[in-house]
Amino acid sequence: MPVTTHQLTQWKQQGRSIVALTAWDYAIAHVLDEAGVDLILVGDSLAMVALGYDTTLPVTLDEMLHHAKAVRRGVTRSLLVADLPFMSYQESTQQALHSAGRALKETGVQAVKLEGGNPAIAATVAQLVQAGIPVMGHVGLTPQAVHRLGYRQQGKSPETAEHVLAEAIALEQAGAFAIVLEHIPSVLAQQITQKLTIPTIGIGAGPHCDGQVLVTADLLGLSVRQPPFAKSYVNLRAVITQAVQAYDAEVRDGTFPPE
Ligand code: KIV
Repeated sequence: MPVTTHQLTQWKQQGRSIVALTAWDYAIAHVLDEAGVDLILVGDSLAMVALGYDTTLPVTLDEMLHHAKAVRRGVTRSLLVADLPFMSYQESTQQALHSAGRALKETGVQAVKLEGGNPAIAATVAQLVQAGIPVMGHVGLTPQAVHRLGYRQQGKSPETAEHVLAEAIALEQAGAFAIVLEHIPSVLAQQITQKLTIPTIGIGAGPHCDGQVLVTADLLGLSVRQPPFAKSYVNLRAVITQAVQAYDAEVRDGTFPPE
């Protein structure tokens, strides 16, 4: 049965952890979906892990849609969410409606994610939800604000913790179906998770969230740079290098291809 946004809320109520990962192409998406991942995010981190940019800022809406279409073709069960990239929703609610509408119509993703929780963003989320577009929020470290915040942990002082909590509450009130909590203290993530009725999906936010998300390139050991809170479960870079060197050797010594 395909996963729905409603199901995520039920899982929170049941205490069943939500498993989320990112994907940027058909092959990766197909593996994740078959492995039983609940939520697949076409994250704008693909700007860094698949396109080689230094930050997520340069990736365009058209590029995100291109990747989302490929991912869609590999997914049958997981809930599919696409990031709206930098400056594809911040200008106005109209712009956000246009970008999110394109994402749903042109790629078949079921929801969009956008970053931040200030009053303007919360108002935008409310408009998107009213238009029938499910929205996932994202607070704490928001990589699209790297030039203002850096990649530092957010919500460390009582004042900034209060700020992150207020943003999460505003997003829930605006109708978001889930919220990513990135790189905030575990105790703050726990507080937010207890306060909200919608699920929290943590990354670098400790174990007390309703679910966890990782950038799949980090999990696979493929990322060139990796945040300290990410975990690699395999070193695919080494595995690929070994395979390429074996091929290289066989081509050079004439073992491959066989007669
Ligand atoms: O772009 C992304 O991959 C993300 C995750 C870190 C949640 O937003």
